Amino acid sequence: MLSHHKNKFPVEGVTLLATYASYERFKLQLNTMNLEIKNLNKQYSNGVIALNDVSLRIEKGMFGLLGPNGAGKTSLMRTLATLQDADSGSVMLGEIDVLKQKEEVRKLLGYLPQEFGVYPRTSAVDLLNHLALLKGFVNKDERKDLVNHLLAKVNLEEHKNKSVSTFSGGMRQRFGIAQCLIGNPRLVIVDEPTAGLDPGERNRFYNILSEIGENVIVILSTHIVQDVQELCTNMAIMDKGRVLFAGSTTSALNEIKGKVWEKKIAKSELHDYQSRFKIISNKLVGGNPLIHSFAETAPDEGFTLAEENLEDVFFAKIHELV
Ligand SMILES: Nc1ncnc2c1ncn2[C@@H]1O[C@H](COP(=O)(O)OP(=O)(O)OP(=O)(O)O)[C@@H](O)[C@H]1O
Ligand SMILES: [Mg+2]
Repeated sequence: MLSHHKNKFPVEGVTLLATYASYERFKLQLNTMNLEIKNLNKQYSNGVIALNDVSLRIEKGMFGLLGPNGAGKTSLMRTLATLQDADSGSVMLGEIDVLKQKEEVRKLLGYLPQEFGVYPRTSAVDLLNHLALLKGFVNKDERKDLVNHLLAKVNLEEHKNKSVSTFSGGMRQRFGIAQCLIGNPRLVIVDEPTAGLDPGERNRFYNILSEIGENVIVILSTHIVQDVQELCTNMAIMDKGRVLFAGSTTSALNEIKGKVWEKKIAKSELHDYQSRFKIISNKLVGGNPLIHSFAETAPDEGFTLAEENLEDVFFAKIHELV
């Protein structure tokens, strides 16, 4: 008996120590976890290739996924969110195999889909409470605290008893972020979250998001170039299922530095200029087009060097000029 105890205690001590060490290691892993996407491919049954050999490495912080309609942004995000399968490739979140260990991923995931579907005639507080219960928060008091904390975080406290179906677009998206944050996710995926929001709501939404991005991986898809420029340190440009650029926003701008030229022209001249120069963008300023042209050296005819922006990079990449 005595000898049994003698043997047992040290063993338990060791086990405890080992458990603690692995817990510390787990915590460290959570904080330094990267998302590593390698050679991801997806073809839909109608033949469309939505993901064409996509490889990306995404670290903690706000990551912008930029691409025109149909680029494959949603396809990529749904794959990362374990909602659809890829044909081939691999995705690792830290040491978790995202394509296989779906349950593990879901515990660490917050996802705000592009289309949320039907908004129920339930109050915000009740719906959030229900969703928290589904996510495993079984203790009623803890759940109540969590729900109140989340409602405060997204500034919906004063509307918490209103039905979500009566919310404005901006309120819905803020509610969407609240539900996305249940369970303290390490990977947050938001798919075109600001479509249709007015500038004030868009700012509110982005402030919440960038606060989250201080601690975890946040992937934001959009076709609004300015959003990525303002918010994201790192980004990717996608088109037709392919990654055309991946890296920091600064290095994206550097790729076209000194090669973007601008000129204000008359509307009637636009067609002619488009046929003679590599026009990467044109926007109306005071009713007349301000065109941006891409060229190694200054095109003559009164073009001046423009301050390059991400929109220029975006179009230069899409038109395969760089
Ligand atoms: N379920 C599906 N079945 C067949 N084709 C699909 C399906 N979902 C998407 N596609 C096609 O795959 C391509 C990529 O679509 P996806 O929705 O991923 O693009 P996106 O970048 O999110 O576009 P958007 O900016 O319009 O949301 C498109 O050509 C689209 O038509
Ligand atoms: Mg989409």
